[in-house]
Amino acid sequence: MANFTTTIIPKIAFVVARGANGVIGADGDLPWRLSSDLQRFKAITSGKPIIMGRKTWDSLPRRPLPGRLNIVITRQADYLADGAIVVSEPGEAMRAAFEQARSDSVDEVCVIGGAQIYATMMNLAERLYLTEVEASPEGDARLPEIVESEWHEVAREAHPAGERDDHAFVLRTLDRA
Ligand SMILES: NC(=O)c1ccc[n+]([C@@H]2O[C@H](COP(=O)([O-])OP(=O)(O)OC[C@H]3O[C@@H](n4cnc5c(N)ncnc54)[C@H](OP(=O)(O)O)[C@@H]3O)[C@@H](O)[C@H]2O)c1
Repeated sequence: MANFTTTIIPKIAFVVARGANGVIGADGDLPWRLSSDLQRFKAITSGKPIIMGRKTWDSLPRRPLPGRLNIVITRQADYLADGAIVVSEPGEAMRAAFEQARSDSVDEVCVIGGAQIYATMMNLAERLYLTEVEASPEGDARLPEIVESEWHEVAREAHPAGERDDHAFVLRTLDRA
């Protein structure tokens, strides 16, 4: 009898919420309170390796994010991030994430920000979990422009603002065309 084995090749997925003006952050924090979107973030990333810049790590209210391998990118040689893996460049982050994803048989590694890391790694993204927030807040961190013609929308869901959300938003899933 033939012995079939399947090898999962994990996809590189970005998870990000942006305002209508491209803003994703303000003063080292999120520019809105969107409890429903945080729940979605948890559902998407749980069990998968997550890659983030040191400033996003610093901004987390609870560190590490539980149930996921947290990988932090920094140029600081002696940086310590309790409960996370610290790496010195994006390629090293990808290697660690892929190794973990293969060992756990999960199909995605997630890049979770912030602006510097999205910009540096954008050409690697194969899937975007993009929350389009219906607001244009002030901020100092922006997502690079997403060229829609390079992406294929595979899911879209509009959400009115819930009780613990500052704004309405649209949840989009985009795959690289
Ligand atoms: N709306 C969203 O979905 C979302 C998601 C995540 C974050 N955010 C927001 O985005 C903001 C943070 O973004 P940010 O751009 O300021 O910071 P960031 O991308 O989270 O982290 C930047 C840091 O990462 C390290 N780094 C960046 N590129 C590197 C490279 N090529 N090699 C080695 N290390 C590198 C450096 O750390 P060192 O300085 O330690 O060397 C750099 O200062 C916050 O406001 C946060 O709340 C929003």
